[in-house]
Amino acid sequence: MLRPAIISDADSIVSLIETFAEKNLMLPITHDFLFEHISNYQIAEKDGKIIGCVFLRVYNGTLAEVRSLAVDPQYQGQGIGKALVEQLKKVAREIGLKKLFALTVTPLFFKHLGFVETDKESFPEKIWLDCDKCQKRDKCDEIAFVYEIGSS
Ligand SMILES: CC(C)(COP(=O)(O)OP(=O)(O)OC[C@H]1O[C@@H](n2cnc3c(N)ncnc32)[C@H](O)[C@@H]1OP(=O)(O)O)[C@@H](O)C(=O)NCCC(=O)NCCS
Repeated sequence: MLRPAIISDADSIVSLIETFAEKNLMLPITHDFLFEHISNYQIAEKDGKIIGCVFLRVYNGTLAEVRSLAVDPQYQGQGIGKALVEQLKKVAREIGLKKLFALTVTPLFFKHLGFVETDKESFPEKIWLDCDKCQKRDKCDEIAFVYEIGSS
């Protein structure tokens, strides 16, 4: 089941993301950040357990990022990541955004979902907010993808 996140999901979301942040696959998040942005998180839940999450980070009147996408390793390969991103596309469309982007180390996943590879420099908003502070900034292995809302 997919649903918007609520405050009591915070510990589970932080630990799910931490699993991947420890391996340098994702940026970690804090509880404070999560509380501030809780209404822009979607989660996947099974039998009361949070098994996936994703965050719509809105930058301006047209652009948002698909961020903090994670599926519990035990549940990967079952369509949950795809469902979370499709849900985020739907929310983005409903609130009037025009474009989504993602920086990722899993490019084939985003290609499957209709995202198109692009240059990171197309998203200066991201570069000031996160990349400048990132440990990997001089050896970034992430690939930028964009999805035009309304193109499908
Ligand atoms: C990337 C991730 C979110 C995918 O979630 P998932 O639930 O395993 O993916 P799904 O089962 O929904 O896969 C959807 C499609 O993408 C494909 N796919 C999934 N992961 C893939 C990968 N790493 N490489 C290539 N294709 C992939 C699947 O084969 C599937 O194709 P299909 O629709 O033709 O069957 C998950 O593997 C994950 O949490 N990874 C670690 C954290 C991470 O890298 N997050 C992304 C940061 S931007």
